[in-house]
Amino acid sequence: MTENETLAGRTIEALTSQSAAIGVWGCGHIGASAMYHFSQRGIRCVGYDIVASRVAEIQDGRFLSTDTAGIERLLATRAPVTATTDWRDLKGQQIAVHLIAVPTERGAEPSSAALEDIMPLMCEVIRETRLDGLIPVVVVESTIQPTWLDTVVLPKLHASGLRPGIDVLVGAAPRRDWFSGSKHTLETLPRIVGGTTPEATELLAAFYSLVCGDVVPARDAYHAAFTKVIENLIRFQGLALANSLSLAFPQYDMTHVLRLASTKWNIPLYHPSMGIGGHCIPLSPRYALAEGGWDNTYLEPVRQAVELNDGYFGKLYAQRLRVLFRDCRSIVVLGLAYTADAKMHKLSPALDAVECLKDTPRLRVHDPYYTPEEVEDLTGVASASFPDCLEDVDGIVLVTAHAPYMEPGIERHIQPGTVIVDNFGAWRDRPFAQGVRYHEVGRPGVEDSRSAVRWPEPSSVVTE
Ligand SMILES: NC(=O)c1ccc[n+]([C@@H]2O[C@H](COP(=O)([O-])OP(=O)(O)OC[C@H]3O[C@@H](n4cnc5c(N)ncnc54)[C@H](O)[C@@H]3O)[C@@H](O)[C@H]2O)c1
Repeated sequence: MTENETLAGRTIEALTSQSAAIGVWGCGHIGASAMYHFSQRGIRCVGYDIVASRVAEIQDGRFLSTDTAGIERLLATRAPVTATTDWRDLKGQQIAVHLIAVPTERGAEPSSAALEDIMPLMCEVIRETRLDGLIPVVVVESTIQPTWLDTVVLPKLHASGLRPGIDVLVGAAPRRDWFSGSKHTLETLPRIVGGTTPEATELLAAFYSLVCGDVVPARDAYHAAFTKVIENLIRFQGLALANSLSLAFPQYDMTHVLRLASTKWNIPLYHPSMGIGGHCIPLSPRYALAEGGWDNTYLEPVRQAVELNDGYFGKLYAQRLRVLFRDCRSIVVLGLAYTADAKMHKLSPALDAVECLKDTPRLRVHDPYYTPEEVEDLTGVASASFPDCLEDVDGIVLVTAHAPYMEPGIERHIQPGTVIVDNFGAWRDRPFAQGVRYHEVGRPGVEDSRSAVRWPEPSSVVTE
């Protein structure tokens, strides 16, 4: 059989000739970046989102308006892309591949609510689309608990009269993108794909090869979806362990020990931190516990790590930081986002820090990627103006190493007597004025933790 005679081959042919298109359900970071990359290969994409401003941005060629650092990377005004807030518009578009990219979390908990909302709409689009010689495919790119395939996706298809495996193929192709920077993208990261049938897996492998340099087929959709949960869980457990070690051994420089340990061939670098934030990593144990059972004895270490990470900044504050900030009447928190140079504050330790420090007479927050109004809405405290704010504060909490905070000479604004607590040691090598009290998280010293670091810290052999 030639490639074009297979279903996968015919689907790719229809997409590349633009007689068929991709439908994207949810046009945020994940959905919009998928649209960007596939449309750059000449493939027609139609996005649906409930937020009109997001749709307008995409119509304007701004695929990732919230990704500040990579904005040039995801601008394209001549891409074959349309977006709409009316899902019915997808009916006339010959959608052969439906990508699900809606949120699957509410706060810190996994939630299938948006998935449940869109499935009946998607089913109606599929039922009313005639694809000559093709079988439409539904791919879940959002992070999911694998059993949602059985409890949400497949039942909704059945309920609408569509027979999975016959009228529609189903699969999962979770995302690993790292939106901060341009190194880990859809094109460069290995992409795990899996279908509920071998035919679906084959189609997904061909489809994602259009954009991804390395497609890795899983044995099925459940294993593909679970890979996302487990890889993030492994990361979460490592990060949580680094944090618990730094509290358990206050007499040790745990940041230093972990750096030394990372020179071993199979140990990644972990840096104790102010807490584990973000879209993915902190949620992974909850997906795993939901899948395996919260009372599953073997998952006890995971449960304990979740407990440790909940309100972690408060624990760090009680053990290490309270004494440092004792005399601080004005503190500025630098960085609302949990990761550098991206506008992403989900479960950011900065939010925890603000809550913990809220009784400080003059507490302010700055993040270069958020407007003062956004800062105030999200944190309930006033926004600071940077770098002027550095000159008249007693305390600085450097949460995120955003580029403006890393500018040469920024330390000249900081007055003697100021206390600095630095999440990842971004300012460790800065020549602060005499009397500035600098503390890098994970170090033992509370006066100036740099005095203990006499030699350059070793680099990890696995990853930085
Ligand atoms: N952002 C990441 O780094 C990342 C990485 C890997 C996986 N994921 C996963 O991808 C999924 C999407 O994440 P994201 O970062 O793109 O979220 P996002 O918040 O940036 O985008 C989600 C989009 O879906 C829209 N939406 C919400 N409910 C909808 C509905 N009922 N119908 C249509 N549109 C709806 C929102 O308006 C928003 O534009 C989540 O499961 C997330 O865990 C995210």
